[in-house]
Amino acid sequence: MNTNINYNNLNGWAIPDEMMNWILTNVPKGSTILELGSGNGTKELVKNYKVYSIEHDKNWINVVPESNYIHAPIVDNWYDVNVLKKQLPKDYDLLIIDGPIGPMRINFLKNYRLFRNDVTILVDDTNRPEDKKMGLNLSNILNKQHIEITSSDKKFMVLYGTTKVVEDKDLCIIVPTFDVVEYLDECLESILNSVKNLNCEILVGIDACQKTLNHVKSKTYDERIVFTFFDKNIGPYIIKNSLSKIAKSKNILFFDSDDIMNENMILDIHNKLNDNIFIKPMYLDFKTGENYKSIKSTKGNGYGEGVFAIKKNVFLSMNGFEPWRCAADSDFMGRLYKNKHKFSYTTEISFLRRVHGKSLTVKPETNYSSSLRSQYVKISKGKTDYGPLNKLNTQNFKFVKDNSEYKFDNTTTFVNYVAPTEEKPKSIIDTIMSNFGSTPKPRTVYTPVVKRNTHFTPPQGNIKSVMRGREGKHKF
Ligand SMILES: C[S@@+](CC[C@H](N)C(=O)[O-])C[C@H]1O[C@@H](n2cnc3c(N)ncnc32)[C@H](O)[C@@H]1O
Repeated sequence: MNTNINYNNLNGWAIPDEMMNWILTNVPKGSTILELGSGNGTKELVKNYKVYSIEHDKNWINVVPESNYIHAPIVDNWYDVNVLKKQLPKDYDLLIIDGPIGPMRINFLKNYRLFRNDVTILVDDTNRPEDKKMGLNLSNILNKQHIEITSSDKKFMVLYGTTKVVEDKDLCIIVPTFDVVEYLDECLESILNSVKNLNCEILVGIDACQKTLNHVKSKTYDERIVFTFFDKNIGPYIIKNSLSKIAKSKNILFFDSDDIMNENMILDIHNKLNDNIFIKPMYLDFKTGENYKSIKSTKGNGYGEGVFAIKKNVFLSMNGFEPWRCAADSDFMGRLYKNKHKFSYTTEISFLRRVHGKSLTVKPETNYSSSLRSQYVKISKGKTDYGPLNKLNTQNFKFVKDNSEYKFDNTTTFVNYVAPTEEKPKSIIDTIMSNFGSTPKPRTVYTPVVKRNTHFTPPQGNIKSVMRGREGKHKF
């Protein structure tokens, strides 16, 4: 019990004591809360939080002067959507659904797009079958882990937020780069040529290479290109993991900074991602110095392992790549195949892969005969569990534009494991796995996973027991 809170205020029409306690335990003081439906509970919330209250009834407007009211009268059995569109705040950390009154509350489902999809949502009154159905539907639509908590006389549901990233881009292309400054601009130009006017973001991660940093600072680039700088040299896979966490799109594409994207690539993968989880683009090798623009071949050399497109939620739910210097792409592909996620290839050559002395597969430390690579391949082949890694391995970085730092908070969030959508025919899996180097084993079946990541502390009750069962399960 919090002595600061007047629990008598909460009786009857306000949120239950248990919900108030859940908020106090899980949401840091000073956070912003958006509530649908105001009342006496609002008086208590404002003691610790910045509150926005959506209220239909003018009698309840400004009853708590510390709250920011949005008066949205009922229109078509829900809050006036036009008022909300104009007045809803952009940023908040928690959403409470406790209004409007009665059965019309479930119409939230028709309007959920007005709200942030990344924050934790509390749905009150889930002891009522219709409200419970709404909570479960929302959990499904927004891909959020949920639990239900019973209070003295009713129930409420917690739908856990996953990430703070808004997904307002159609695609995010993630390009790690190290010591290939002479190829970088050509690569970025080819990407721009392929994305055309797409609302996208090209996130370039500079792997502690001062020469590249100086170069990009000295030039002006298309505003869709965002340069980031990692001040420790950590290899491409931790960069890919880190930047995928800030990607503002549902789909991501990993590309390499020494390669050339063909004009057809983006359209091709974008179309195919509609009904696939990941896409492997066809490539053709070319040598530095070769005039790649005059290459006429229609037959490629293979399909991307490190260059591929994937649904971001699936990538993050697998906790991305192993934090290795090399071979983590084949390992990840192997895990995707073993999970039988639905995938496709591009049918034409999508990119030209530059063969040069500084690429990871050619440099002596990481090439195919290096001992480092063979150690990683051994670990990868020896795996018997292909589920999410025990965490997403990331590294803090800075945005080159304003030198602001992006810091990862790896304490406590919940990421839902995204289960495979469809079984692939065995023959295709067999063919691919023979390239990967091991025979397919029966798929391990995963239940939704609870993982830690943002500012919410682990909840009590049901989730704790789920977490206990998972600890250490995916360590290799
Ligand atoms: C369940 S209440 C919302 C309560 C609010 N979340 C709180 O914790 O105080 C739903 C709606 O009922 C109305 N209301 C709030 N408190 C009330 C009360 N004590 N008596 C009657 N109606 C109330 C308001 O219009 C409010 O939007």
